[in-house]
Amino acid sequence: MNFPEYRPRRLRKNELFRRMVRETKLSVDDLIYPLFAAAGKGIRKEVPSMPGVFQLSVENLVKEAKEVRSLGIPAILLFGIPAKKDPLGKDACSDKGIIQTAVRAVKDAVPGILVITDVCFCEYTDHGHCGILSGDGDVDNDATLDILARSALTHARAGADMVAPSDMMDGRVAAIREALDGDGFSGLPIMSYAAKYASGFYGPFRDAAGSTPKSGDRRSYQMDPPNAREALREVALDVQEGADIVMVKPALAYLDIICRVRDAFDLPVAAYNVSGEYSIVKAGAKLGWIDGERMMMEILTAIKRAGADLILTYSAKDAARILAR
Ligand code: PBG
Repeated sequence: MNFPEYRPRRLRKNELFRRMVRETKLSVDDLIYPLFAAAGKGIRKEVPSMPGVFQLSVENLVKEAKEVRSLGIPAILLFGIPAKKDPLGKDACSDKGIIQTAVRAVKDAVPGILVITDVCFCEYTDHGHCGILSGDGDVDNDATLDILARSALTHARAGADMVAPSDMMDGRVAAIREALDGDGFSGLPIMSYAAKYASGFYGPFRDAAGSTPKSGDRRSYQMDPPNAREALREVALDVQEGADIVMVKPALAYLDIICRVRDAFDLPVAAYNVSGEYSIVKAGAKLGWIDGERMMMEILTAIKRAGADLILTYSAKDAARILAR
């Protein structure tokens, strides 16, 4: 037998060798933990389809943020669940709204953690769409830009460290950038959900946020899953409009998109390991069919290997504990 000189197994022999030649290293610094702020008091309600994830009223959210910080996770992403929904999602633009209240409370009580806010209307509108509906039942793009910019500004005034628009209206990064700059927030970064697909993987999130559309779906504003080149155009637009970090969402079924965005742009790339990606691992583990912890770490590492600098994930606390072992 005439083997070639190079034998890959030489460097796989034991964990010390494997550690030394490992190409991708997941770090707690890569993680962002999403949290749901609910209006009211004394709320700590587990989301049935997302074990370990809770709707939290503000005082409980503050406790949770402290725990997240103690695990060394650098940032949280906040979603708001208002007491009342209406056609315009007014709570999202109110200085006294749920997310603004939550931001103020966390910034007051928990120094040393970044607070990122999700800017969107689907959690706040009674119809469950991500903006203002026009007569034909579709979302009115330009009317929505206006309220998105107003909403982002209330987040900034409440003390948010970064805003993250997830609505997928055309032109929203520019509209938000202009509003922030005009109000003294030119130093506040925008992480845009740049390539966000109309995905079945968001199902459990919509249970968590109560944001399932009452009629229709989000396919007229979120991207069509078969499209990859279009993602590059979406990202290019957001970069032009002033995005500081660009996000691909979901992550797991879109690793190719993460990889292509990484290659084509030099801004930091974030990937959202979404609710459905979390739930399938939890469900499989609960059934005893898979090793949930091992698969979670493999998934997070794969997202990083594909090119993501940052990962938004409901597994952040679990992963941080494992990384600290
Ligand atoms: C919209 C928004 C969604 C998610 C984050 N922001 C849901 C949607 O577009 O329907 C999904 C996150 C997840 O599934 O974990 N505000």
